[in-house]
Amino acid sequence: MNSRATLHEYRTFLSRALQRPSTVGAVLPTSQHVASAVADVVPATGTPTVVELGPGTGALTDLVEQRLPSGSRHLAVEIDPDMVDYLRRSRPWLEVHHADAADLPTLLNQQGITHVDAVISSIPWTLLPLYQQRRALDAVAHSLAPHGVFTALTYITALWRPGSAAFDRALRTTFEEVVPRTPVWRNVPPARVYICRRARP
Ligand SMILES: C[S@@+](CC[C@H](N)C(=O)[O-])C[C@H]1O[C@@H](n2cnc3c(N)ncnc32)[C@H](O)[C@@H]1O
Repeated sequence: MNSRATLHEYRTFLSRALQRPSTVGAVLPTSQHVASAVADVVPATGTPTVVELGPGTGALTDLVEQRLPSGSRHLAVEIDPDMVDYLRRSRPWLEVHHADAADLPTLLNQQGITHVDAVISSIPWTLLPLYQQRRALDAVAHSLAPHGVFTALTYITALWRPGSAAFDRALRTTFEEVVPRTPVWRNVPPARVYICRRARP
């Protein structure tokens, strides 16, 4: 279960999920089991820049932050204003931006960041129309350093959706290496994390 979420976090998440189901795409924050699988890709040496797309109420954020060496940058790009407020209040150390993932290059430019080392995403990819999947993936590919890594969180229960196959194809046309990790069953719903490297030119 997603047991580490506090009551306040759970309430905020559920209330936004009920009001904007297709934007939030889940009814519970992600479990710590998935968060661990995702945090694995965060560089633990140097001073990397890491971006979270769709941080929601921050279920992945703390594990990512714990792994980052001091001097690193940790940005969060969230489209929902209430989630943004929640994150700013609960995690004042996080660089929270109220923006669309598809606008990542512009945002990074404004922040004086030329490339990022890791992008961690849990936006509801399989619910997005194809053109929005493409826009957001292009934004990620454009923003990653050549050695950078991209992770995308999807749900096993979404496998039957046409958007799921389309997203799998879009990942493979965007990145040379696309590795779906073993499903994490201890999540509601069960989740699968894709690890992608080397954006195609
Ligand atoms: C499934 S929730 C994941 C939240 C959190 N990362 C977790 O794992 O519990 C998806 C989040 O992505 C945000 N989101 C959806 N579309 C987005 C977009 N285009 N740009 C930025 N955030 C987006 C939603 O508002 C929501 O907070």
